[in-house]
Amino acid sequence: MVISKNLLGLENTKREEIALILKTAQQFKEVLSRPIPKVPTLRGKTVVNLFFESSTRTRISFELAEKRLSADTISFTTSGSSVSKGETLKDTVRNIEAMKIDMVVIRHQSAGAPHMLAHMIEAGVINAGDGQHEHPTQALLDMMTLTDKFGKLEGLKIALVGDIQHSRVARSNIFGLQAMGARVAMCGPATLLPRDYREAFGSDVEVFTNVDDAIRWADVLNVLRLQLERQRNGLFPSLREYAATFGINRARLEAAKKNVVIMHPGPINRGVELDNDIADSEYSVILDQVTNGVAVRMATLYLKCGGDLEVVNGNE
Ligand code: CP
Repeated sequence: MVISKNLLGLENTKREEIALILKTAQQFKEVLSRPIPKVPTLRGKTVVNLFFESSTRTRISFELAEKRLSADTISFTTSGSSVSKGETLKDTVRNIEAMKIDMVVIRHQSAGAPHMLAHMIEAGVINAGDGQHEHPTQALLDMMTLTDKFGKLEGLKIALVGDIQHSRVARSNIFGLQAMGARVAMCGPATLLPRDYREAFGSDVEVFTNVDDAIRWADVLNVLRLQLERQRNGLFPSLREYAATFGINRARLEAAKKNVVIMHPGPINRGVELDNDIADSEYSVILDQVTNGVAVRMATLYLKCGGDLEVVNGNE
């Protein structure tokens, strides 16, 4: 298998590559459980984390993954940089690349920014979230968490609940889960579902506008944050009504009389898309997702930096 040096999205990522990243992530998860959770795998490589948009989980997780792999890392945020003096993305990145780097991890508010970068620079590019487009490592860590829980992805029924229209997490999950043979549904108010979803995701995606129907159908609910910063006004009457109609709470889960697994990419609007009680409950694997994020990002960095597939495939 030929592995690209970039991870820009899961839309065109083959099942074999996703499976390889997930398998490699399991090996790094074992490394992370050791007393000294560090390997020299990326010693001598330099990774730059470019975060033009705020992040807690993704940025810390990438930084930790790079340190666990012994890479040299630099983290860049727009505040305090020359971006605040008007420097363009192109100039920023060209200058950073002139310092001889191997890999760029980028989060940007504009869809397509990582793709533009990948055309401009020699270093590999990993998309850490671009506008409403994709967030591939989030979907990979979600798939790793589901594999840990259910042993497989094939045939599993996952409902993405909430603001699908503005969610890069939803898009990457749908592409990745479909590639791995899972069944996917979207559930939310009609105003928060993408109008072109059949064109974008194919005719196999189920759609629910009643959350109780989605809960009855699903093995897993991946509950999405309301992306208020990306929405125009008037897409739903009020947060209170949204919580009453689509919020996931104990009464709804108990009424379904089944053990549905609850995921959320974070940050959570507690009491809106997810009740406080449920976010920390026996239904939730939210902190497992965060833990798996480090292993998935180690695997992605390793493979994209030219990691030895023979070793990873167990043929050492
Ligand atoms: N899930 C996620 O992308 O979270 P952050 O915005 O905190 O990185």
